[in-house]
Amino acid sequence: MKQLLISTGNRHKTEEIRSMLGEGWTVTDLTAYPEIAPAEETGDTFDANARLKALHLSEALPDLLVLSDDSGLEVDALGGAPGVISARYAGVGATDADNREKLKQALRERMVTGEGPPFTGRFRCCMVLASGGKELGIFNGAVEGTLLLEEEGEGGFGYDSLFVPEGHVQSFGVLPSEVKNGLSHRARALAQVKEWLQSHD
Ligand code: IMP
Repeated sequence: MKQLLISTGNRHKTEEIRSMLGEGWTVTDLTAYPEIAPAEETGDTFDANARLKALHLSEALPDLLVLSDDSGLEVDALGGAPGVISARYAGVGATDADNREKLKQALRERMVTGEGPPFTGRFRCCMVLASGGKELGIFNGAVEGTLLLEEEGEGGFGYDSLFVPEGHVQSFGVLPSEVKNGLSHRARALAQVKEWLQSHD
């Protein structure tokens, strides 16, 4: 079994990556290393934060193959917000529900000015693969879609229940995980990671 350590404490991300990689891989994450503090996300781009997360963990555990995931939602009518601060849009320590509430409120305010719906946006994901404290590669994925003003569905995490991917009429909170994992920002970045791993086997 090949081993991959994901530089995240977000079990939803780990589960999606584990399921997309399939058999042949043992996937662990930061929850297995409580002694390692998570990297501070001080970058102002997904790429910068993905690098910070990957190198921080790879320096601490140089013998392991590390993959980071920095991701988030960009909404055009909000100038790209919440963007890199997607996880803490409603403030440090905010829950996913708090962040969705803040997003719905921000969209309602845009409606008053006559903008949208539909509100267009995208999920972005940047992944960095690292080993021995060095970056091996950087991989980006995105999925375009529209934002809902009310949650739809209970599945997924984060902003899933407010996001309808292009080509579908239901949100990621309703669509089966196999559908999300076939077209998501994370799936698209991970497909490139897989290709890289295969060509460097
Ligand atoms: P990060 O852990 O700093 O990369 O923050 C990612 C945040 O973006 C998450 O906490 C979610 O709010 C949001 N996000 C990223 N990917 C997804 C997804 O696949 N579905 C829903 N929300 C996501």
